[in-house]
Amino acid sequence: MSNIVLIGFMGCGKTSVGNLLAARLGYGFTDTDRFIEDSCNRTIKSIFAKEGEAYFRDLETSTIKGFIGKMDQTVLSVGGGLPMKPGNAELLQQLGQVIFLKATRATILIRLAGDTTRPLLSGDNPAKKLEDLFTSRAPVYERAAHMEVNTDGRSFDDIIDEIIKRTGVKP
Ligand code: S3P
Repeated sequence: MSNIVLIGFMGCGKTSVGNLLAARLGYGFTDTDRFIEDSCNRTIKSIFAKEGEAYFRDLETSTIKGFIGKMDQTVLSVGGGLPMKPGNAELLQQLGQVIFLKATRATILIRLAGDTTRPLLSGDNPAKKLEDLFTSRAPVYERAAHMEVNTDGRSFDDIIDEIIKRTGVKP
């Protein structure tokens, strides 16, 4: 299927790059977090608080399953934890070319400073939580992706040019 799927850590730029990439390609843009929030008419924060993370992870899986066979010419940005659940990486690969947007811990820390929307970073010592998540997730993202694109110190245009060139998708 001719979709482009963006994965990576919270704050790596999936939504910003995804929106701009979709505009350049004339593709649609979908973000699993927004899709879930719109379908449930709830915020992610509230879903985590009331039903818990496992429930949210099931919603993520059913969301991407629902896209298979239906989504086309779309840039899909997925929540940072979605590729971690066994089986989800394979579902993403069925949807299209999967790209891991890489950023260093330092960049992510700066981008997420003061963020209050991401439940996994709330509470005591968000920097330590981020560090632990970063370490456990990076290898999973690498395995789940068809290609990796670095984002540190680069403009959105530069990142998008690289994605278009390497995926071979025609604008
Ligand atoms: C999460 C990342 C968030 C959102 C939720 C959980 C995670 O999405 O799905 O807060 O586990 O990394 P972004 O990666 O778009 O911030």
